Amino acid sequence: MRATLETVEDVAAAAAERIADAAEAGRSIVLAGGSTPRAAYELAARADWSAAKIWFGDERCVAKDDPRSNFRMARDSLLENLVEPPAAVFRIEGELGASEAAHRYAAEIFEHEAEPFGLVLLGLGPDGHTASLFPGRPEAHEAEALVTAVPEAGLEPFVPRVSLTVPALASAREILFLVSGETKAEAVRQSFATEGAGTPAASVVAAAHGRVSVLLDAAAASRLGPGSGSGHP
Ligand code: 6PG
Repeated sequence: MRATLETVEDVAAAAAERIADAAEAGRSIVLAGGSTPRAAYELAARADWSAAKIWFGDERCVAKDDPRSNFRMARDSLLENLVEPPAAVFRIEGELGASEAAHRYAAEIFEHEAEPFGLVLLGLGPDGHTASLFPGRPEAHEAEALVTAVPEAGLEPFVPRVSLTVPALASAREILFLVSGETKAEAVRQSFATEGAGTPAASVVAAAHGRVSVLLDAAAASRLGPGSGSGHP
């Protein structure tokens, strides 16, 4: 599978449109963590999420109120701003420790027959990591399990993580990467415009069953050659 790269003026606004459509269609949506998606979630909160089911792509093993928690970021930017609550929210219980939380989350996915997810949202780290699958770490090569413990993170915050694996992410009907800023430009070039690249993000794209789109601002796209993506001025 190849990714469709779209350079847009406002990543948050473009992403929010796609997320809102998926929410109103009642799809299962896997939220990305980190900081980039926050503005998109705040905008997408205006949609009707009452039929949507919310999952998480990864979590830090901290309390759910900890400022580093991806659940807390989603709660503050999206969940608390919804007029009606979603049909379901499946939180990764990172506070239980990486292995126990990964085991329980895999059981939730199985019990609710959640795969294939409708829409998977992902970020991209400057090292090419996505979710909590980091380059050079074994979890990025997990080919069977749907969820994995990540005892050592490859970037801040250096706490144990829980992450969906490449197979779980790649099975989605649609994957949408949200990437902004110059610090991501080299990871973008390596992950989305270089044949045979080895980043975890590239592995997700290569294994993807459905449509893969990458929303980029000009800074994140700045190391792409001409014609690498459909620009939207
Ligand atoms: C996490 C995220 C991670 C994130 C990237 C980009 O838990 O940290 O899932 O994969 O998406 O690191 O993070 P920013 O959006 O903060 O740059």
